[in-house]
Amino acid sequence: MKIKTVPTKPFDGQRPGTSGLRKKVSVFEQTHYLENFVQSIFDSLDDFQGKTLVIGGDGRYFNRKAIQTIIKMAVASGFGELMIGKGGLLSTPAASCVIRKYQAFGGIILSASHNPGGPTEDFGIKYNISNGGPAPEKVTEAIYANTQKITSYQIADTPDVDLDSIGEKILGETKITIIDPVSDYAELMAKLFDFDLIRRLFEIGNFKMRYDAMNAVTGPYAKFILEDVLKAPKGTVVNGEPKEDFGGGHPDPNLVHAHKLVEYMFSDDAPDFGAASDGDGDRNMILGRKFYVNPSDSLAVIVANFWNAPGYDRGLTGVARSMPTSQAVDRVARGMGMSCYETPTGWKFFGNLLDANKATICGEESFGTGSNHVREKDGLWAVLYWLNIIAAVNMSVEDIVKAHWKKYGRNFYSRHDYEAVDSQIANEIMDSMRAMAADSVGKFFGDYEVETFDDFKYVDPVDKSESDHQGIRVLFKDGSRIVFRLSGTGTQGATIRVYIEKYEPNVGHHDMDPQEALAELIEIAENISGIKAKTGRMAPDVIT
Ligand code: G1P
Ligand code: ZN
Repeated sequence: MKIKTVPTKPFDGQRPGTSGLRKKVSVFEQTHYLENFVQSIFDSLDDFQGKTLVIGGDGRYFNRKAIQTIIKMAVASGFGELMIGKGGLLSTPAASCVIRKYQAFGGIILSASHNPGGPTEDFGIKYNISNGGPAPEKVTEAIYANTQKITSYQIADTPDVDLDSIGEKILGETKITIIDPVSDYAELMAKLFDFDLIRRLFEIGNFKMRYDAMNAVTGPYAKFILEDVLKAPKGTVVNGEPKEDFGGGHPDPNLVHAHKLVEYMFSDDAPDFGAASDGDGDRNMILGRKFYVNPSDSLAVIVANFWNAPGYDRGLTGVARSMPTSQAVDRVARGMGMSCYETPTGWKFFGNLLDANKATICGEESFGTGSNHVREKDGLWAVLYWLNIIAAVNMSVEDIVKAHWKKYGRNFYSRHDYEAVDSQIANEIMDSMRAMAADSVGKFFGDYEVETFDDFKYVDPVDKSESDHQGIRVLFKDGSRIVFRLSGTGTQGATIRVYIEKYEPNVGHHDMDPQEALAELIEIAENISGIKAKTGRMAPDVIT
């Protein structure tokens, strides 16, 4: 087989962001654009010849084409084996699972997560290392440096590989293995959760649920695990066919983008349980009948009920949450006498804690939960965990959450996003709050006395690496909190995120609407930041 060396020139802007390189499809379609990035990944790695690379994506438009290019380039670079999900599909957590299970050298995941897909929408590519997690910054920076000096790439001159037939074949010196994208992941889930108990819930308990796969990658996983293995009735999984454009939707499981599921769950026909996942399957939303579970509460409930799930019943070493995530899980950790780590936003900060066995379960307020079973957050894992809890305690979602609040108190919580704000104004808003930090301690806003006012800085307890400017934290004496930060994933201008939290121990107040319970703090947030005044906005674009 002939290996071609193709001359090329660097493209600007190939620096990987929070989760790999994400651009419009039209950017990726430029001649050499994808090839340059892939060659730059390979050039940043040592000693991979003869080893295994896992490849798969969320099935969005350009997924198949990109995979063919990556196969030919990986063959040219001397990988020993390529393990590729059938049809080019692998959810992000399943890719992490496969990398770990087969001790692969690494993996390439094609996804733009919850961003829309299609010819005019987004595409993305990221590299994961041998622990199954996203490449750390020193690797992504090396990749970026390579993209800036690339002069040529290597590619095998060979026809496209059939991605739709499971099995092995040899291409040059490389074995190409097309794998079932679901089975390894399903096998792992069966080890972590009590499938017999959950099966009984569906078969004998007449338990009903709806899982909305949002026409994204988790459809085949959810249909196999929920309907075939756990015997939930056929039709439990809706929008279960992965589509290149996600059926025109925005595959983000939240109250805004998964509103059809939300409306159904709040209707009189609602089943007992509702859930959804995002484009690549790492996010989750949990709903009960006429009841929404805030992701921060979901994390706290999952941790508090560890003894119900066989994969966790021997105890947790610790837990971790991203800084803006509510402190509900801290109370559970305190009650159980274990450490709760507070990390900057982004799943990559959990990697060291998981590898060092300092944390078993991690979560973010942005609909992300997961554990040490892989090194990505995992949407379906959270859904199965909830099913395991429901089956074990035999209570409704609402009763489980309310009992949790009764025991630990309720952390009222909401996030307000202001999108596409002029970057300069957004930076000025953040700078002016940074300037307030020094003399705000002890100051009162209404009844709330400031205990700490700082710009969050994280020192990784494992490798001691430091990350600063991770968000303005205003902590009040009563445990309430306001956090401000700029999004690191937005593509247009700046997105200001305001996270508001209030602790309420009194059960009599637990049924309040969060926006009402937080009303005074929401006003204080505006007094401190002046976002509305400085941007001219009347209200946030998204409230979760
Ligand atoms: C957002 C979420 C963050 C998550 C990331 C990737 O990042 O807030 O928790 O890890 O997406 O899914 P942000 O745009 O806030 O930087
Ligand atoms: Zn995702």
